[in-house]
Amino acid sequence: MVLSGLALFVPVTLCVQGSYAWGNLGHQTIGFIAQEFLAPNALSFVQTTLGSMYNFSLGPAATWADMVKSESEFTWSKNLHFVDAEDDPPTSCSVEEIRDCASQICVLAAIANYTTRVVDPTLDAEQIQEALKFIDHFIGDIGQPLHVEAVAAGGNDIDALCDGSKTNLHAAWDTGMLTKNVDAVHGGTSEQYAADLVVQIKNGSFSSLTSNWLSCTSITEPVDNRRAFSSGPSIETDIRSLFAARDAETITPLECPLIWARESNAFDCSTVFNFEPEVDPELCTGSYFTNAIPVVDLQIAKQGFRLAAWLNVLFDGSPMLP
Ligand SMILES: *[C@@H]1O[C@H](CO)[C@@H](O)[C@H](O)[C@H]1NC(C)=O
Ligand SMILES: *[C@@H]1O[C@H](CO)[C@@H](O)[C@H](O)[C@H]1NC(C)=O
Ligand SMILES: *[C@@H]1O[C@H](CO)[C@@H](O)[C@H](O)[C@H]1NC(C)=O
Ligand SMILES: [Zn+2]
Repeated sequence: MVLSGLALFVPVTLCVQGSYAWGNLGHQTIGFIAQEFLAPNALSFVQTTLGSMYNFSLGPAATWADMVKSESEFTWSKNLHFVDAEDDPPTSCSVEEIRDCASQICVLAAIANYTTRVVDPTLDAEQIQEALKFIDHFIGDIGQPLHVEAVAAGGNDIDALCDGSKTNLHAAWDTGMLTKNVDAVHGGTSEQYAADLVVQIKNGSFSSLTSNWLSCTSITEPVDNRRAFSSGPSIETDIRSLFAARDAETITPLECPLIWARESNAFDCSTVFNFEPEVDPELCTGSYFTNAIPVVDLQIAKQGFRLAAWLNVLFDGSPMLP
């Protein structure tokens, strides 16, 4: 099954089902970026676990979680793709674990759950593969600003236009603007888009930012005092504390995903809701589009890089990234 071929159908599928996070194109790009940065043990685990069905890669496997949401067997998983931040953009943006994920049914708790499950020796091969595919997908989802936002069902209820076609704010961020930009300047495929962003990460405009991407520190939010005793939040401390607490009854969302969700949610105030649908509903041209594309590129590059770091810490003991 050549899943990457589905990228061609993204606009059609996702305009109908606007509640998906990043469309297939965005998710596959995040997976392909991560694949480039995997350390030896993580790469070997990914290849063995995903197998030929996914071409041994996090790229094609990244869309599985969206595809199964509509199957009755996986209906329960549909609320794991987001966290409904009860904030007030563009005036005030925030994500709070207790306020927004009290039920533990949200993307923050899901990342913690599947991080413990992907290395749980008591699970069978299918469950391990499922855990990896959920991590692959959810670390992407939290980078989409409208997947960390409750207002108007994450923007799904705000009508808009993309190049004159009817859409909504959420769908334009998932696919409309992204697809237009990838078609225009990245060869129209997730593989090429990923390759272009990898160049920016290794030796371009993103290369000076990557250590900050991994630190899980936030310049806008005070660090949660849960980690006050440690040397500061990092992917390593996060994952270590998760396994230290793995016998606990409830799953505690981790600090790095929370900080990443806050970073993403901050774009709701700075960029996403900077829009007056009654005055100008068009999102895919003009200044709205010009301001949005750098955010989309940044968020996709960042989450791909972070996905690799996450798996490298789990399987190789450290992020092992530039
Ligand atoms: C599978 O991955 C390899 C690189 O690892 C790539 O060259 C090839 O085109 C991919 N095949 C498909 C069907 O995507
Ligand atoms: C953890 O994942 C398993 C398997 O998908 C699921 O059955 C369980 O409900 C999840 N737990 C939480 C707290 O999300
Ligand atoms: C990095 O970019 C510079 C200039 O942009 C170029 O001269 C250099 O060859 C590049 N290095 C690599 C490893 O691609
Ligand atoms: Zn999703």
